[in-house]
Amino acid sequence: MKTRITELFGIQYPIIQGGMHYVGFAEMAAAVSNAGGLGLITGLTQRTPDLLANEIRRCREMTDKPFGVNLTFLPSLTPPDYPGYVRAIIDGDVKVVETAGNNPQKWLPALREAGIKVIHKCTSVRHALKAESIGCDAASVDGFECGGHPGEDDVPNFILLPRAADELKIPFVASGGMADGRSLVAALSLGADGMNMGTRFIATQEAPVHDNVKRAIVAASELDTRLVMRPLRNTERVLKNAAVERLLEKERSLGASLKFEDIIGEVAGVYPAIMQDGQMEAGAWSCGMVAGLIDDIPTVKELIDRIIAQAYAIIDERLARLSAR
Ligand SMILES: Cc1cc2nc3c(=O)[nH]c(=O)nc-3n(C[C@H](O)[C@H](O)[C@H](O)COP(=O)(O)O)c2cc1C
Repeated sequence: MKTRITELFGIQYPIIQGGMHYVGFAEMAAAVSNAGGLGLITGLTQRTPDLLANEIRRCREMTDKPFGVNLTFLPSLTPPDYPGYVRAIIDGDVKVVETAGNNPQKWLPALREAGIKVIHKCTSVRHALKAESIGCDAASVDGFECGGHPGEDDVPNFILLPRAADELKIPFVASGGMADGRSLVAALSLGADGMNMGTRFIATQEAPVHDNVKRAIVAASELDTRLVMRPLRNTERVLKNAAVERLLEKERSLGASLKFEDIIGEVAGVYPAIMQDGQMEAGAWSCGMVAGLIDDIPTVKELIDRIIAQAYAIIDERLARLSAR
């Protein structure tokens, strides 16, 4: 299935696994790349640039296909060693970087000089246009449905994607709410050149997370996510649990005076306990509304093969019948 995205990244299918904290280890990225998509190691899950370099080496031992690294730029009082991470990516001969969060402009010259393709993940047309103007090769356009940080505009993909298609010259993938062949065909119809999935890839055999996390996604419906940290303009879509209810109660009671310190217990440093130890009430963790479309835990290859087969069936049968005049 050739699109501008498969051509840009040298992959078989236009399916990307978005960076995911404490999920995007080498095992996850390699499984997706081996199945014909583009897998991404999550840079900041590795606590130091040396550990990231090691994770890149491990991934290369597991796949000879292209894979990438996600670098998330978050506002922080003590910023991570971004120059060190960029160096580990370049020295590791990684060919694709997914940037997310703040404007990645500062890091583009070094990445591009090393021949690295940059796809910037953003939640609005204006940010995607900015990414295009500063020289990003592609964009990942994340709608309001998405797991993680949907931004503050709340525009769902049925509007956001065609708006992006109208404005962007660089290729982009649809992100947020994508699960199956229907999603892929819809994404292509709305003007995207592929799709990015987060939550769907967690519920796979190879995802290196505790079984409780996979089971929680399968059990969840599309009604089970909540938006937290909106008062801090750092909105995150998470799966509801006791910690999230507690957090939302603090947001309600503290109102405009809410500070990050008030909710630190529910959001800071909680991922290892959830993803690795399976303590599902330990805090707030990102999950998309798409959980409502996920009811099994296939291998990554089964998932991707099924998506492609379903997409072709829709295009060649259902849509072809509609167009037979
Ligand atoms: C558990 C989890 C952790 C995530 N961590 C990150 C992250 O560290 N950096 C990032 O750019 N996006 C992160 N995301 C967002 C995903 O890369 C992707 O954009 C999003 O999941 C797409 O929406 P979907 O879940 O509906 O497929 C995370 C998503 C999930 C579900």
